[in-house]
Amino acid sequence: MKARIAVLPGDGIGVEVLREARKVLEEIGREFHHEFETVEGDIGAAAITRHGEALPERTREICISAQAVLLGAVGLPTSDNPDSPPRPETGLLELRSLLGNYANLRPVTVKESLIDSSPLRPERIRGVDLLIVRELLGGIYFGLPRGIKNGAAYNTEVYSEEQVRRVARIAFTLAGKRRKKVVSVDKANVLETSILWRRVCEIVSLEFPDVGFESIYVDNCAMQLVSDPRKFDVILTNNLFGDILSDEAAVLEGSLGMLPSASIGGVVGLYEPVHGSAPDIAGRQIANPIGAILSVAMMLEHSFYLTTEAVSIQRAVVRTLEQGYRTADLKPDPSKKELGRPVSTSEMGALVCESLKMPDPV
Ligand code: IPM
Ligand code: MN
Repeated sequence: MKARIAVLPGDGIGVEVLREARKVLEEIGREFHHEFETVEGDIGAAAITRHGEALPERTREICISAQAVLLGAVGLPTSDNPDSPPRPETGLLELRSLLGNYANLRPVTVKESLIDSSPLRPERIRGVDLLIVRELLGGIYFGLPRGIKNGAAYNTEVYSEEQVRRVARIAFTLAGKRRKKVVSVDKANVLETSILWRRVCEIVSLEFPDVGFESIYVDNCAMQLVSDPRKFDVILTNNLFGDILSDEAAVLEGSLGMLPSASIGGVVGLYEPVHGSAPDIAGRQIANPIGAILSVAMMLEHSFYLTTEAVSIQRAVVRTLEQGYRTADLKPDPSKKELGRPVSTSEMGALVCESLKMPDPV
């Protein structure tokens, strides 16, 4: 097949990890005879520096006319001052809205070879395979009014029934192809938006009689994610809770650098690692590119329905880790002492590409 993919490296380690993700994409193209044409654009602080805005017109155009968008990371620490717009993060939020991607999928699968990288006990996390479905275009991220005035600040959480219904349907549909369990996470003991969220999810659950359904409070979910994570299959939640819980869930995998994501439901799918721009380690070739590489796998699956190719990437990553290769964010594999040092960002990308060339064992 032929496809055009917009590539937005963004800020900080986004640039480094996307370089490796692209190598993997090229390798898959070669192996499976696909033509992936890439076109690069600016977003975030990089775009503000070059064009004065976080999501320039040209970036909008290349994204909307591509078949998928691959993004690195957005943000710089100096941008946290709300009095000095534009902020890099608004570029990402605007892009998500432009593309209409209301469902953000964040899979968390504990890899056996990384079981000791997590601070949690192996017996508690072994075999964890969960999917966070985060609503991405609503809630307190987008609600109006918002602002800072006269010594006070305010934000607004808004959800319409339709916004909840459409993301809930995605969560239930995906659960139907997995272990058939949806846990919806809210704060219905305090928030009206959560009361509505819970009601709509209950109604949607009736459309999916073979999928189990339960609603829990977010504080309770945060606890169970570390005390009993294996109980979860699909976690369905709002924009803010999903942001927070997915970073927490990354601890199960041993590093935030491992997590990929797919934002779907709109006109063009957007794929990005869950981690941020990590300016403190940027430019040093120590970032973990696996979250970005696995985001390529998610792109192949969700935008191009190339499941075999997606699985090849996942297997190549697992094989590379099994061989004992680790970036600096992961605990070294004690049985592979001869490696002696963590591999760099680009070495990890090259190793995954090498592994891709090896045939899958039958
Ligand atoms: C994420 C990030 C973003 C978010 C930021 C950079 C706007 O933390 O994708 O998880 O909060 O959605
Ligand atoms: Mn986040």
